Amino acid sequence: MAHRVGIIGGDGIGPEVTAEALKVVRAAGVRLDTTDYDLGGRRYLATGDVLPDAVLDELRGHDAILLGAVGTPDVPPGVLERGLLLKMRFALDLYVNLRPFKAGTNRYNDGVDFLVVRENTEGTYAGEGGFLRHGTPNEIATQGSVNTRLGVERCVRYAFDLARGRDRKHLTLVHKTNVLTFAGDLWQRTFNEVAAEYADVETAYNHVDAACIYMVENPARYDVIVTDNLFGDILTDLGGAVAGGIGRAASANLNPARTGPSLFEPVHGSAPDIAGTGRADPRAAVISAAMMCEFLGEADASARMLNAVDKTDDVEGTTSRIGDAIAAAC
Ligand code: NAI
Ligand code: MG
Repeated sequence: MAHRVGIIGGDGIGPEVTAEALKVVRAAGVRLDTTDYDLGGRRYLATGDVLPDAVLDELRGHDAILLGAVGTPDVPPGVLERGLLLKMRFALDLYVNLRPFKAGTNRYNDGVDFLVVRENTEGTYAGEGGFLRHGTPNEIATQGSVNTRLGVERCVRYAFDLARGRDRKHLTLVHKTNVLTFAGDLWQRTFNEVAAEYADVETAYNHVDAACIYMVENPARYDVIVTDNLFGDILTDLGGAVAGGIGRAASANLNPARTGPSLFEPVHGSAPDIAGTGRADPRAAVISAAMMCEFLGEADASARMLNAVDKTDDVEGTTSRIGDAIAAAC
């Protein structure tokens, strides 16, 4: 049976890398029934639409969503982030942002093999806050962090389940409990209580600033990391840098309860500086598509896709040449 997948190629290199990802999925033998959605900066500038409710409702009817990247230089900051990316995360309850980091075997930082589970619907990204006396010399801006027991616990449980299924069975909570004493306390207590149910998983705690040092100096110490929305956003850019660059940083925005589609996308943006030049590395999009296949129950095909990315690690050239090489190696 074909999986019904909504495709949002987006802007810049988004459609270029998405096309290669779909090429590799097909080469791996996974049947997809795709629908293209024209969303992103180009559409916004042409029509003023960001994510119409009717489109969001249509997307709900799919098994998964594959996104390239959205953003063009002329769109003001926040329009697409809040109106499209965050709106989908909240509306589709994509409460886990899962980002794997694995260095290619022939790179100097061999041994990097960890996953970050980032809470994806709460924290400082929930949009709590506002202005008082906006634009005046006495202006005040607040931006709160929303942390619910339900939101933290379901994310932490996902991370424990994930860690339990891996060889090392090791999970690190990353937060800043010494300063963020309210949110940090809720996270630490929830983590400790859930840990009691997972005696086979070894646990650790790092403050987020220390985690930045360890991730550079000794990234192999990490197996699975669980953290809040903002820390996860920052830490995963660092993760991308230590694991071989933005060209291979992939992500899954998951609704593990499967009450709707999950969304898969590379971590990188639309890279307007190289759009149209054929210089975009499609690997992050391919790895994201492999995560999608695994989530759709196509574990064998997913493993072949990831293996093909590894085997073609040294292939250079245009976006489509790299895509062809990965597809041929599936
Ligand atoms: P970016 O990730 O698009 O680019 C940063 C740098 O990395 C650029 O030099 C770019 O050429 C390079 N790069 C990115 N992906 C690459 C790839 N696959 N292969 C080779 N090089 C690659 O981030 P930037 O420049 O901050 O943002 C550009 C636009 O993308 C903005 O409009 C931003 O809002 C949007 N954006 C969208 C995201 C999304 O759709 N999830 C995420 C991040 C940014
Ligand atoms: Mg980010």
